[in-house]
Amino acid sequence: MTLHIWDDFPHIQEKLTPLTPYLLEAAQIKQPAVNQRVQALIQNGGKLVRAGLFYLFSEFGATPDPARLKAGAAAIELLHLATLIHDDVIDQATERRHTPTLQTGLGNRNAVYAGDLLFTLYFDQVLRSAESFEDIDTNVKAMHGILSGELDQYNLNYQLNETVAQYLQEIEGKTAKLFALACAQGAKLAHADEIIVETGEQIGRSLGLAYQILDDILDYTGTQDAIRKPILQDIQQGIYTLPLLFTLETQPKAAKAFLSKQERLTAAELQELQQLVVDSGGVAQAQTMANELTDQALLDIQTLPDTRARVDLEKLTRRLLKRQK
Ligand code: IPE
Ligand code: IPE
Ligand code: MG
Ligand code: MG
Repeated sequence: MTLHIWDDFPHIQEKLTPLTPYLLEAAQIKQPAVNQRVQALIQNGGKLVRAGLFYLFSEFGATPDPARLKAGAAAIELLHLATLIHDDVIDQATERRHTPTLQTGLGNRNAVYAGDLLFTLYFDQVLRSAESFEDIDTNVKAMHGILSGELDQYNLNYQLNETVAQYLQEIEGKTAKLFALACAQGAKLAHADEIIVETGEQIGRSLGLAYQILDDILDYTGTQDAIRKPILQDIQQGIYTLPLLFTLETQPKAAKAFLSKQERLTAAELQELQQLVVDSGGVAQAQTMANELTDQALLDIQTLPDTRARVDLEKLTRRLLKRQK
């Protein structure tokens, strides 16, 4: 199932529709119980934002090779999925994409190994898509950046003095690197000019940062049903994201009184803290930063060749800022 985000972009939707069966095939795992969970995650459909961006950027290239591009798009989504499976172990999350997470029922060990296995399946697709050693190197560096960002985040757990700069560095790794990879590789594998590949990397970075900030905002403003994963879990896990960091600046006493309870925060206290973050303007300040990053992306998009792909990229960028899930 692909997502309505792409409904307005039929030429991208057309490429994303066959991607799901391709991913299902590429991610076959021998062990039935693990396989069933992984297949359900793919079948239940991520938004395919990264794969869609990859395809949008491929339109700036003159000579796309459909089979190579499909492998490139699949690689990006498999890398994303592997990191999500591991992220759900770390976060002890029970649900993702309306389906139980790997470790629910199967345990953390199975989930960790399954995530590892998916990394190898990712590299399998990288090998099918890459045209040069440089393409492989780009993927290795991106994966390194993502995992390094994850480590940064984990090591800042429950740190009441975490700064906005530290948060930005962490999401630059864990999220923006993958968006940058998707945009740059889409252009590169379709043989777009070097300047487009570089601009793609920049745009992907800004979009990725804005996307993660919005994801973190949705943890405070969304509902579990809409975002298809549990809400307010970040705080309990000690992950203090941008809206909360702003509230820690403006209302340090009130926020710290809640946060000092760490995982002992009750559901009612979580609700109160959520309200504090909204009322103190933490959500609004985070939204402002997401807007600024989006504006930066829009400026960079204007430097791309004036094509349908550019028009669509601009439209998509505005849409991403308004997403509710
Ligand atoms: C979840 O990404 C992790 C973040 C970086 C916010 P998505 O919200 O794009 O996840 P899926 O692929 O649509 O499930
Ligand atoms: C972690 O981000 C996912 C990666 C970028 C690897 P989040 O922790 O915000 O993702 P969700 O909210 O669980 O989807
Ligand atoms: Mg998470
Ligand atoms: Mg999140």
